[in-house]
Amino acid sequence: MTAIVPRERLPFGSPGLDEMLGGGLLRGTATLISGAPGVGKTTLGLQFLTAGVKMGQPGLLVSFEEFPSSLIRDARQLGWDLNALEKEGLFRIIFTSPEVFLGSLKTPDSPLSETLHTLSPQRVVIDSTAHFQRLTDDIPLEIREIYNTLVNALKREGMTALLLDETLNVLEIQTGRMASLPFLVDTVILLRYVEIDSAMQRAIAVMKMRGSAHQKEIRSFEIQKGGLKVGEPFTGREGLLSGITHRTA
Ligand SMILES: Nc1ncnc2c1ncn2[C@@H]1O[C@H](COP(=O)(O)OP(=O)(O)O)[C@@H](O)[C@H]1O
Ligand SMILES: [Mg+2]
Repeated sequence: MTAIVPRERLPFGSPGLDEMLGGGLLRGTATLISGAPGVGKTTLGLQFLTAGVKMGQPGLLVSFEEFPSSLIRDARQLGWDLNALEKEGLFRIIFTSPEVFLGSLKTPDSPLSETLHTLSPQRVVIDSTAHFQRLTDDIPLEIREIYNTLVNALKREGMTALLLDETLNVLEIQTGRMASLPFLVDTVILLRYVEIDSAMQRAIAVMKMRGSAHQKEIRSFEIQKGGLKVGEPFTGREGLLSGITHRTA
């Protein structure tokens, strides 16, 4: 009789979120984090990487939009000293372009792949996948091919990946990159602003998780020192994912 060996989980270090994910993300999978600007995607990415460092797992942040200096400053507000982690050799920020990054994943001896090999990241965050769209003329087949290359390259390197992306409304007909990205990844996590009694709150939901059970509820969260603090499920509300809610009749 062969014992069933549970697959290794990589936690976010956020008790509520890890609970929703059955303990964390499965090693070697790719996860899409989707949400509007300012909702907390980069914060969640940094939380994932710093939680890994605490477990001795090196982490890489690939940023196409924010300069390392501003990321480091914002992270300090959240209680993370990225410079110190970098000095320990367990963390790196790469500020590059989608062209260069994609090219380096395909070329084994580029300067960037050198970094990949000295750091040997186990966790990687791509901030954000929206930037790959400008490599094509919005041809769905080409976009799909690019994301496919990206996801497969990260998996081939053995990394557990978070792909951050901006979407305003997942309930809209999915077009452009969103026609393929959610299907290429193993897990989809949504971050949403929701309006409740004329106040803005934040909500988080796990839409899908291949190879694992996950909780289907929509929970509230706040951003504070240490990252996302995930609270209780919203009860007695509907319309949460559309952003405008009302009480259930
Ligand atoms: N120390 C903090 N305490 C509370 N909120 C914070 C703190 N630092 C940043 N924020 C909030 O977190 C949000 C930043 O989210 P961010 O992760 O950059 O969003 P995204 O990447 O989705 O655009 C901002 O709305 C900011 O106001
Ligand atoms: Mg961001």
